[in-house]
Amino acid sequence: MIYPIAIYGNPVLRKKTKDIDKDYPNLQEIIDNMFETMYSSDGVGLAAPQINKSIRVFIIDAEPMSEDYPDVKGFKQVFINPQMSEENGKEWLFNEGCLSIPNIREDVKRKPSFRLKYYDRDWNFHDEVFDGIKARIMQHEYDHLDGVLFTDRLSPLKRKLLKSKLTAISKNKISINYKFILNK
Ligand code: NI
Repeated sequence: MIYPIAIYGNPVLRKKTKDIDKDYPNLQEIIDNMFETMYSSDGVGLAAPQINKSIRVFIIDAEPMSEDYPDVKGFKQVFINPQMSEENGKEWLFNEGCLSIPNIREDVKRKPSFRLKYYDRDWNFHDEVFDGIKARIMQHEYDHLDGVLFTDRLSPLKRKLLKSKLTAISKNKISINYKFILNK
């Protein structure tokens, strides 16, 4: 099942999400549906708030980027209850987009590496260090779990320049070629 995607202006994108436990209802089905939703809208990552669920889950399948970035070949994973620590290194710019902010892409500054503790979809615990493009995709999705969008990380000037475009999204004044929900 393809979920509609919460877009800019939907309050669910600004809520801090909650950890889940193993008996969270229909979790496996939700995860399968998240992948289906992400593939149908050509994304490489999707966080639960984007499908209107305020829980600490995000998924990634970066295979479509692997021609340009061999690092991410086969990088497909589910992250449950992730906790990030030890962000390291010199901030670098990478061009980001987001299914919740259609038709806008901007260079965003982030640190290149961090440590993440998380569970996968089989509830195996992981404690790993990520870097490079993998880290970048994950940082963007992780931000969603804290109610943070990539546009929040731009300079005040850039944000000001984008304001009218963002307002247009929040007022449903743009065309989007996938199912979306603006308000809860
Ligand atoms: Ni996003």
